[in-house]
Formats: sequence, structure tokens, C-alpha cells
Amino acid sequence: MSNPRSVTVFAPATVANVASGFDVLGFALERPGDAVTVRRTEGRGVVVTSISGDDGRLPKDPAKNTAAVAARAFLEAVGSPFGVEIAVEKRMPLASGLGSSAASAVAAVHAVNLLAGGPLAPRELLPFTLLAEKAACGSAHADNAAPSLLGGFVLIRSYEPLDVLRLPVPPGLACAVVHPHTEVKTEDARRILKKEIRLADAIRQWGNLAALVASLYEGDLALLGRSLQDVVAEPVRSLLIPGFAGVKRAALAAGVLGCSISGSGPSVFALCAAADIAERAGAAMVEAFRAAGLGSDLFLSAVNTTGPVVLARED
Ligand code: HSE
Repeated sequence: MSNPRSVTVFAPATVANVASGFDVLGFALERPGDAVTVRRTEGRGVVVTSISGDDGRLPKDPAKNTAAVAARAFLEAVGSPFGVEIAVEKRMPLASGLGSSAASAVAAVHAVNLLAGGPLAPRELLPFTLLAEKAACGSAHADNAAPSLLGGFVLIRSYEPLDVLRLPVPPGLACAVVHPHTEVKTEDARRILKKEIRLADAIRQWGNLAALVASLYEGDLALLGRSLQDVVAEPVRSLLIPGFAGVKRAALAAGVLGCSISGSGPSVFALCAAADIAERAGAAMVEAFRAAGLGSDLFLSAVNTTGPVVLARED
């Protein structure tokens, strides 16, 4: 089969940090996500032709648009003889803590790799998406892009050199993510974090993170629940999320394994042992946000284990 002229790729939203793994752990969701269509052009270079679903807020400038930044870096790295036109379809809220900028970059770079005949393996595409994250929020964190690209839970053992590890996904695990109608910019949510942490907090955090990883290998959901604690980012960032304490209380009362902020917020996620628990907890979390004066959207999802998928192609 010859290389396609155009492909449309869906890349999933992600929950980064997963409580105790600030900047080093994330997982992919089945929904929501972004769809990006990339079409080969004769001339070199990258043009963003359209963006939908963003209320006109995202830049078309290829130096700033995350899909374009990732695609351009890829094309330069492989010495591509062609350029591309990109159409971005945002299917998730911006500045929501669901890895929106990463999903667009992952979809674009996966698509452009296919147009080029697939010279690189999925994990080799990660550095291009990190350039996009850096352009979007000033920080090249990988805990959204890596799970969106690879699917499942992904651990970033090291950034220099980049060393990422896919972790097992226990069967039946379900997630409720509630996105309250308020925005938190990742850049701002990073700026307010303390630059140093107390040794006692570090001990709790790495104990929880190590146990969380062990729980995924063991399929031990009770241990997973005990490990979903964040003493580093959540205490500070929750101040940016009206009603957070009540939302978390409502989730825990509904029987979730654990609940914390999704990425840099304001979305809040709860991991659950079964889909019906996620459904109940999600409704309770929506209600708790309502009591705090905020409307919200609920996303119920299993953990996505596939990463990006092709929705359409033109040969
Ligand atoms: N780890 C990043 C942060 C994820 O929490 O700032 C941003 O979505």
C-alpha cells in the first residue's frame, strides 16, 4: 500500500500526574480526545488551515500551534521532501487538565509519520510532542503526551535521557473525570507550586508512587486506592478549583478507589473498580460542583490502551 495523501487521526485525552506522580505518570482515556487531519502538500512547510471547537482561541501560527509544532519538528528531523496542511478538530475543552495541547500534537505527529511511510516507532515520536508542550505552556512535561501516544499508563523514569515505560492496566478499571466550567492555565498552575518540598512530604509521595506502580503490576486495586494521594501539587492547586474538597468527598463517599486533580486542573478524576461506581461517583461529583456554583461536564471512560487511531485516510 502506498503512503496516504491525507489521514485523520484521533488522539486521546489524558489524566496526568495520577495523584502521586507529578510530571512522571499519566494514563490515556477512551474519551474525549482530538481529531487532526494532515494532508501532504508539494511545497515544504506546515500550514494550519482550520481549527474547530476552540471558539477561535487557538493560534494558527505554526510556531505556536501544538499540532503544527510537532509536525514541523518531525518533518525536519526525517528530512521530509513534502510539507503538510493541518486541520485541527478540538473535541475537548481547552485549559481543562485533560491534555488538550498534547492530544493535538500526538494526533498530528502520528498522522505525519503515516504520510511519510511510518519511519519512526510511536515512542520515537515523543520528543516532537514535547516541543509542542513547551510551545504551549513553557514546560516540556511528558505525562500527557506519552500516554496519549502509547496508550495505557505510562511512567516517565527520566527526561534526560528520555526513558518511558508502559505499565499494565488492571482489567475493569474505570474512570470518572469531571470538568468544571472554569479554566486553569497549565503555566499558571505550575508557577504556584512550591519549588522545594519537605523531606517528610517527599517520603510520602515516593512511597505512594512506588506503591501505585506496584498495584498496577499486581492488579491490586485496594493498594491502588491507598496510593492515590498527592501531598505535593494537590494541596496548592486545589485552591484554584472552587468546591474541590466537596467534590473529592463526594467521590470517596460513592466508593471510588481514589480522587485527585487531573493534570494541572481544573478537571478532577476518580479511578474506580467498576464502570457503575464511576457512573455514580461522576454524578455525585457533578452535583458537588453544582453546589459550589459551577456547571461541569462528566466524562466516563475506561483506560485507553491503544493510543492514537486512524479515523480516515485518502490514498
Ligand atoms: N504534569 C503536568 C502538570 C501536567 O501537572 O503541570 C499538565 O497537564
